[in-house]
This record gives sequence, C-alpha cells and structure tokens, in this order.
Amino acid sequence: MTALTLSTSAASGLKVDALVVGVAKGAEGPVVAPGAEAVDKAYDGKLADVLETLGASGAEGEVTKLPAPSGVKAPLVLAVGLGAQPEKDTSYEPEALRRAAGAAARALAGAKKAAFALPVTDAGDVGALGEGALLGAYSFDAYKDNGDAKAKNGKNGKGPLAEVTLLGAKPRDRAHKAAVERAVAVAEELNRARDLINTPPNDLNPEAFAAVAQAAGKEHGIKVQVLDEKALAKGGYGGILGVGAGSASPPRLVKLSYTSSKAKKHLAFVGKGITYDSGGISLKPAGHNETMKCDMSGAAAVFAAVVTAARLGLAVNVTGYLALAENMPSGSATRPGDVLRMYSGKTVEVLNTDAEGRLVLADALTKASEEKPDAIVDVATLTGAMMLALGARTFGIMANDDAFRTAVHEAAEEVGEAAWPMPMPEHLRKGMDSSTADIANMGERMGGGLVAGLFLREFVGEGITWAHLDIAGPAFNESAPFGYTPKGGTGSAVRTLVRLAELTAAGDLG
Ligand code: BES
Ligand code: MN
Ligand code: ZN
Repeated sequence: MTALTLSTSAASGLKVDALVVGVAKGAEGPVVAPGAEAVDKAYDGKLADVLETLGASGAEGEVTKLPAPSGVKAPLVLAVGLGAQPEKDTSYEPEALRRAAGAAARALAGAKKAAFALPVTDAGDVGALGEGALLGAYSFDAYKDNGDAKAKNGKNGKGPLAEVTLLGAKPRDRAHKAAVERAVAVAEELNRARDLINTPPNDLNPEAFAAVAQAAGKEHGIKVQVLDEKALAKGGYGGILGVGAGSASPPRLVKLSYTSSKAKKHLAFVGKGITYDSGGISLKPAGHNETMKCDMSGAAAVFAAVVTAARLGLAVNVTGYLALAENMPSGSATRPGDVLRMYSGKTVEVLNTDAEGRLVLADALTKASEEKPDAIVDVATLTGAMMLALGARTFGIMANDDAFRTAVHEAAEEVGEAAWPMPMPEHLRKGMDSSTADIANMGERMGGGLVAGLFLREFVGEGITWAHLDIAGPAFNESAPFGYTPKGGTGSAVRTLVRLAELTAAGDLG
C-alpha cells in the first residue's frame, strides 16, 4: 500500500513527482488554501489567478494539473478543490480534507512520490489527510494482468501512488504521530476489506474468506474460531446451513476475538457474509446479480474493524462474527416453503430464498448474544429497499435502543460516513406471521428495510443493546469514483465500527 510520512521540509525543495495544493471556492473565485503559501510565492503570489485562468473554481473534488514554476523542484503542481472556503476564523472540516486528499491521490495513480501541502491545523487534520490519501490511492488491479498471471498487483496497470508526504504536520509531535499511525491502520485494513469485496466470487467463497481471517488472526494476535459445515450442523445453525445448502462451497461461521487486558467493555460486531447472492431458488433476474459479490461487505467491514482494533491496541474487547455462505440455486438448495430451525430454536418459514441475509445474521446474532456483550452491532447489505429509501451513499441505522442508535449515528458522522436513523414500526411485525412456523423470512414489501430490521431484532438476546446497519447502498460504488471512494467495494461501515470501539474503550459510549 501507499506509504505515508510527515515532513517539515519546504515544499519547493522536495524531489517529488507532484506537489498537491488546495484550492477553495471563495466569494470571488478560487482561493489558495493555507499550507500552499510557499508554492503560491513561487508563482509570484498569482496561483489563484493562474488557476482561475485554467478554469478552476475550487469545487469539491476538482483536479487541476499545472507545470511547476521555476524555484520548485517538483515538475508538477496539482491543485485539488476543497469546496466552499470556510467562514473567517474557522478551519476546513476534516471530511473536506479527507475527500480532497483522496481525489488528489487518485489523480496521481502511477506516480511515485507526492507531497501534500494542504491545510493542517491540528492532529485531527493530519489523520483526515492521511486517511483520505491512503484510501483515495486505492486501486484493485489484481485481475488486470494482460495475460501475465504472475504479474504483481498493479504491475500491468498504473498502480497506486507509492508515497505520500504530508507537509505542515509535525513529525515529532506525539498527537500527530498517533494520528498517522491510526490513519495507516484504518486505511490498510479498510483497503483490505475493499480487496475482499472486489475479489470475484469464484475466488472468494466462505472457506477462502475464513482462511483469510485465520491468517490475519495469527498476524495480529486475534483468536479465530471457524465452524465448518459439520460443526454448524452439530451446533444446529439452521439459518446459515439453510442459506448455504444450494452451494458447492459450504458455509462457515467465523468468530474473531480481540481481547485487551485493559478492557472494561465488550462489543460484538456481526457481519453478513454472503460471498455471492444469486437469490437462490428465488433467483434474481439478470441486471440484479452482477454486483452480488458485494454481499459479504458487512463481514468484510466487521473483519477489518476487529483487526484495526487489535492493531491499535484499543482497551476494549471486540468479538467479530462473520456469517459466511454462498446463496445458490441447486437440487440441494433451500426452497421457498421450507422451514428452517434456527440456532435460537425458533423456526423460520422461508418464503423467499433471496431474503437470505437475515437468516445467516439471525444465527450469528443469537451466537453473539451468548457472551452477553455490552452491545451488538450488525452490518449487512441487507435490502434493496434501504437503497431506495436512502440512496447509494447513506446507510440506515436501526436499533432496539434510541440512545444507542443516536450514538452510532454520531460516530458515523464523526468519521465522515453518511448514515441516517430508521424506525422499526411495530405494525410491520405481523406481516411476517407464518401459518406454519414461528416467523416467515419476508413481510410487507413496503418498508422492506424496516421489516428486515424487525426480523433481526427477534434473534438478539433479551436485554442486549443492539444496532443494525443496512449498508446495501454505500457498500459498493457502481458510479464513478469520488473523493476517497473508489469504484466497486468501498469499505462502508469500517470507520464507524472502529470509532465505536474507540469510544467504548474511552468509556464514552454506554
Ligand atoms: N443482498 C440483497 C440486498 C441488496 C440489494 C444489496 C441490492 C445490495 C444491493 C438481499 O439479500 C436481498 O436480496 N434482499 C431482498 C429481500 C426481499 C426478497 C425481501 C430485496 O431487498 O429485494
Ligand atoms: Mn438476497
Ligand atoms: Zn443478500
């Protein structure tokens, strides 16, 4: 991955491929953002005019490349738009910095070294710029090898920007150093989650995902337990087995336990890990299954968050559950009309095999409840309905506790993830009444995301605080890249989960 360093060197003397400066949208045209004073001076103080001549406005995400003036060693200056200039005496929002750094890093794919002369006022800004740069530089080239199967990632593609130096930060400042360390851990694990999401489903089945988790556990001192199909049958995990029944690749339930000797609290994260969702016997029509390798994004987020918590040594116990299965139609597949006996003992009539996420999550939620954690958060690409409700960039939050739902929402906002609280109207429960079993896996079509939340709630242990994040919209970006978000797997919810773990460790949550 891209390397990240801090430097106090003067921008003009740096032997880098590009110098990145910020440009904001001022009342009367583009304005050069703080941090780029030396570069502006090299343009005789006329950088803003030059940018305006080139048609730049300072709009968010805008990238303008211009030749460096004499006196600057780097050949290229890249001006990245920061959006509206902040009011007088206020500084740039961390999320504006994160996005700008991301857009700049992406625009420099293929380059070796870049120095970022963007505004820095505190350690939070250092973290935001670092995170944005590392996330924006991400590219998934593992399968773009032009027939050279031995090609290293990116060898035959452009490859990501190799090295980023942040100027204006203090390399010897403890808070700045800690911010860089955090940014690197979060971004590396989030990018790893993106890799897992982007890996085609013929290469990432439940067994392969479990193997990745086991290897990471060894590397980071996390205890990993894997239940294979035999252990799942013995344990009575009817939901996970029922969803995996049609696939030639059997399901897995992976438990990752990170424990800290300083922990006072215990969080459990549960992720939907459908490595491919064809819909099963209730097969999805063409046009709806091409991106369904992304249906393990919740499990990828949980995995990344647990590893990040371990890397940061957070003073909280975090247990992650990855509910892994492939949803396929076949002669052995679960049929609409089948009844599954879940791990909790409840019976579920499967009316639609495409509502499979809630079935695997239900078993994992029951399992997670056994340890009585202080809170459970599940993450899932659960419903198309949530996408219809909130669009492709915002995830929905449901919970059995209003204060906890608000806390999760605030944590998401703090790290720059768009999220919104959703209700769980009690009247929607009766739509899932089954004439045969305790509950059906489908209810009313209207409010489908909320129905799914109500289903999950039934499998959370009595008295346990729980929140459900439906990331169906933001998990996979089918449009053009923006800010630090690439096309494809985004790593949605990773940063929110990490923030929740940090807040819990600090005693600031629950
Ligand atoms: N994985 C899908 C939800 C999804 C849709 C995620 C689009 C990302 C993008 C889920 O398993 C599903 O198929 N849900 C059904 C539920 C319905 C059958 C009750 C849906 O939303 O249509
Ligand atoms: Mn489905
Ligand atoms: Zn699904």
